[in-house]
Amino acid sequence: MRAQLATDFERFKARALPRDFPSHVREAYGIDLTARYLGTTIPHPIGKGSGQLSLNQGQLEADAEAGLAFAVLKTVIAQDAAGAQSMAAWAIHEAKMRVERRGGGWTVTWKGRGWDRSFEDYLALVRIGGDLTRAGQILVVPSVKYHLPRLDEPFKDSEYAFTTRALATAWGEPLLLLEKDFSPTLAGDELAGERAQILRWLREVPARIRAHAAVRLAVKVMNARFDDDFQLEMVRAAAAADALVVFNRLFDAKQGVAYGGPELSQRNLRVLGRLTPGDSPGITSTPGFRPGLAELSGTGGIASGRMILEYARRGCDSVQLHTYFQLPQDEYAATEGSRTQRALHQLVFDPVDGLIAGMLDLEGRGVLERRAGELHFLDLSTDAHRPR
Ligand SMILES: Cc1cc2nc3c(=O)[nH]c(=O)nc-3n(C[C@H](O)[C@H](O)[C@H](O)COP(=O)(O)O)c2cc1C
Repeated sequence: MRAQLATDFERFKARALPRDFPSHVREAYGIDLTARYLGTTIPHPIGKGSGQLSLNQGQLEADAEAGLAFAVLKTVIAQDAAGAQSMAAWAIHEAKMRVERRGGGWTVTWKGRGWDRSFEDYLALVRIGGDLTRAGQILVVPSVKYHLPRLDEPFKDSEYAFTTRALATAWGEPLLLLEKDFSPTLAGDELAGERAQILRWLREVPARIRAHAAVRLAVKVMNARFDDDFQLEMVRAAAAADALVVFNRLFDAKQGVAYGGPELSQRNLRVLGRLTPGDSPGITSTPGFRPGLAELSGTGGIASGRMILEYARRGCDSVQLHTYFQLPQDEYAATEGSRTQRALHQLVFDPVDGLIAGMLDLEGRGVLERRAGELHFLDLSTDAHRPR
C-alpha cells in the first residue's frame, strides 16, 4: 500500500486529481473517507471555511469540479426589511490579503470583514448553492453574522426574521443549513470584553434563528480573549446548535488582525482534547462535561492530512480549511489542476503527511481497526466521543 501511495501521489501530481478520488481511495486502500457535516453525509472530511474563497458562482463550480466536500459561503451581515444592519461595521470591503509565514506555518492577514455587496447578490449566490447541493455536486452552507446585543439590550429580532426567512426562501428545499459566525474580530471589539455577554449570545442565538425558519444550524465559536476554561464554557453554552465549528481564528490586538497557523491549531486541539479526550497524551478530560455534545467541525491551522486526523481524534467529523487553499502555487507538489485540486491531492495522498498515510499509521499503531476489511475515517471521531 505504501508503494501504491507513492505511485498515486506521483501520478496525480501531473494530471488533475479525479473528482471521485474517495472511490479510488476505498478500492485501492480499503479506506472509507466518508465524513459528516451538519448531519449530512459527505464523501470525505475536507471543506472550505467561510471566506474570500467562496464569494461567487465560479469558485463554487470549480470546487465542485475538484471534488471538495463542502464550501461555506462568505459571511453576510444580517439586515432587516428596510436594509438596516446593526453590524454594519463588518460589511465593508476587505483590504488586500497577505499570505505570510507566522509561527512556522502560514497565515493570511484578515481584518475580519463580511460580505460587502448587496444582500440580493448574496441571495443569488445562496440560490446557486442550493442548486449545486441538490444536484449532489457539493454541499454549500451560507454563513451569517446577526445582531449581537449588549447584556442589557434586546436582540434585534427584525434582523433575525428578515435575514433568516430570505435565506430559507432563496435556498429552497429541503432544510437550509446555516452557519452563525461569531467573528474573531469581535474578540478585538469592546463588545466581547464581557464573558456573561458572550455566553448569553451563544445560549440564545440558536433559538432566535430557529424562530423564523426550519434550519440546521452550526455555530462557529470564536477564540475569545480568555483562557481555555472559558473556551469550554462557550462550547457548553452553545449546546443548542446542531454543530459547532471549532474554533475561529485568534486575534492579534496589537495589529488588529485575525490570524491562524500553528498557534491556532495548538490552542484548538488543546481545548478539544478536554472535550473529547480520546487518546490525546497528557490531557485530562473535564469530568461530566459531555452536554450531548453537538457534532464538531474542526477549523484552524490545518495544513496536512495528519492535522485533519488530529482534529478527528478529538471528535471532529469534518474540517474546514481556508489558508491552505490560498498558498502560493509552488507550495503544492501537484503541477496540474486547480488550486483546490492541488491542495486536496496533497492533503489526501502525500506519502508522509497525507490522510491515507496517517490512517495507515494509526492502523499500524492499533488506534484504528478495519471493520469488514475497511478503515473508516468516522471511527476516529466516534471513538473520541466514547465516554471513558
Ligand atoms: C481571508 C479570510 C477571510 C475569512 N472570512 C471569514 C468569514 O467571512 N466568516 C467566517 O466565519 N470565517 C472567516 N474566515 C475564517 C476561516 O473560515 C477559517 O475558519 C479560519 O481561517 C481558520 O482556518 P485556516 O487556519 O485554515 O485559515 C476567514 C479567513 C480568512 C483567512
